[in-house]
Amino acid sequence: MSATPRDARKPVTLTKLAEMRALGEPIVMVTAYDHPSAEVVEAAGVDMVLVGDSAAMTVLGYDSTVPVTIEELLMLCRAVRRGLRTPLLVGDLPFGSYEASDEQAIATSQRFVKEAGCDAVKLEGGGASVQRARAIVGAGIPVMGHVGLTPQSAVALGGYRAQGRTAERARQVMQDALDLQAAGCFAIVFEAIPSEVTDEVMARMEIPVIGIGAGPSTDGQVLVYHDLLGIYAGHKPKFAKRWADLRAEMVRGVAAYAEEVRTRTFPAPEHCYSIPPEELDRLREHAREREDAAGAYDW
Ligand code: KIV
Repeated sequence: MSATPRDARKPVTLTKLAEMRALGEPIVMVTAYDHPSAEVVEAAGVDMVLVGDSAAMTVLGYDSTVPVTIEELLMLCRAVRRGLRTPLLVGDLPFGSYEASDEQAIATSQRFVKEAGCDAVKLEGGGASVQRARAIVGAGIPVMGHVGLTPQSAVALGGYRAQGRTAERARQVMQDALDLQAAGCFAIVFEAIPSEVTDEVMARMEIPVIGIGAGPSTDGQVLVYHDLLGIYAGHKPKFAKRWADLRAEMVRGVAAYAEEVRTRTFPAPEHCYSIPPEELDRLREHAREREDAAGAYDW
């Protein structure tokens, strides 16, 4: 299995995503939060990258997405931008940065585009978020919606749990998705929704839908980088499959380094610099002369 050679791929555009949806070509999206992870996902040939507010937990050590700030996410977006060439880059608008007014939503989105080079922004929820999405799109910035489990409002939703498991709640998910589509979103994330509910909503969607715990019928899938590579030690959601166990490998590597430092087997000769013997002789002579003159070290 080999990724497409870096230079053969063209930058992914909104048109390309719509074409992929029309052709039934699955869209691959993943989160990234720093320059090395951006380089990895670029090399792996993904279509879309999200600097998610999940960074709050995966890289910043918060216990939910709520505390992460605009400045923190902008810094991560800039690092990711520098590592990407082809995937479409989406920046997540953090909690408290877009809800208050259309003006606030536009101003925050402009920062993600202007200061961090994002191609698009993502916001969570239906209701008032639909009008915010419409306003941001009206200001010329592509918007991705996000329905179902929206972690920024997890407390109001009764915790981190699947949404749309009653007809009434499923109807709400469907309404939110259709409203965001009508507001001009170029794509929508469906998170933690029963597959059958997704199937029903998909039949009514005209824009790419990217699922995370929403079953197989969406136009693409997104997962958190740290979940799919086994880096994050915190809660692993039911929908997160692991393709690697990097955390264990990282602990093994650092522990092996610690052991070699403690047993003085590292550094070995190949990790050390040398000085030509005649230069070393001159250094020693110089040191002796100084000691003889001063009776002690006096550099
Ligand atoms: O912040 C995030 O990582 C997300 C994905 C789960 C879609 O919103």
